[in-house]
Amino acid sequence: MNRGIEVRELTVRRGDRAVLRDLSFDAPRGKVLALVGASGAGKSTLLRCLNRLAEPAAGTVALDGEDIRAVAPQVLRRRVALVAQAPVMLPGTVADNLAYALDALDDEVRDAALAAAGLDRSFLPRTARALSGGERARVALARALTRDPDAILLDEPTAALDPETAEVIAQTVAALANRDLAVIVATHDMALAESVADATLRLVGAAAGAA
Ligand SMILES: Nc1ncnc2c1ncn2[C@@H]1O[C@H](COP(=O)(O)OP(=O)(O)OP(=O)(O)O)[C@@H](O)[C@H]1O
Ligand SMILES: [Mg+2]
Repeated sequence: MNRGIEVRELTVRRGDRAVLRDLSFDAPRGKVLALVGASGAGKSTLLRCLNRLAEPAAGTVALDGEDIRAVAPQVLRRRVALVAQAPVMLPGTVADNLAYALDALDDEVRDAALAAAGLDRSFLPRTARALSGGERARVALARALTRDPDAILLDEPTAALDPETAEVIAQTVAALANRDLAVIVATHDMALAESVADATLRLVGAAAGAA
């Protein structure tokens, strides 16, 4: 099982402009793909197309061979988890945030997700909204992992983190691929891209005007 995400001839428009044009690439399970490119090149837009938070004008996205338009959006967003750059923490504790919208969360699954995100159980009773940016990033990652996704999309996971915390996140991201997930990391951090990525996709931004 190595299919993961397959993007074919994707074109995305914003207004009358093509932000992404005719983009094709694979993000197989078990690998980390770094998505790089200047601010405004379309990295976040592309990630949003992969779990249908945004719809392309043309082209297809498949997950393990299935067109994502055939998957209900709520189901798709558990299978393809997007960890936003500034993740939203819900009211309550870290434990509340991890269990949010789940009928039940097994302690072992929860603790494994925490560990994979570089946290431990001591964080569970902490007030989520009082956490630092780096801690929030890790809670958001743990929350995504508790949903046992097939793919995980990280948007600027190390932005605004101190070098030590960024290194913890980098190691965490590199280890994710060992879980047979498809991992895509959008980043300006070339050190992160070089240290974690099996492949790099550079977006140069589609030219303005008709496409
Ligand atoms: N909702 C929107 N309406 C209009 N234009 C948009 C919208 N969302 C994004 N864009 C435009 O699409 C382009 C790509 O934006 P996007 O946020 O994907 O870039 P990015 O590569 O993630 O940039 P950054 O590195 O700054 O995060 C930009 O020109 C942006 O202005
Ligand atoms: Mg962005």
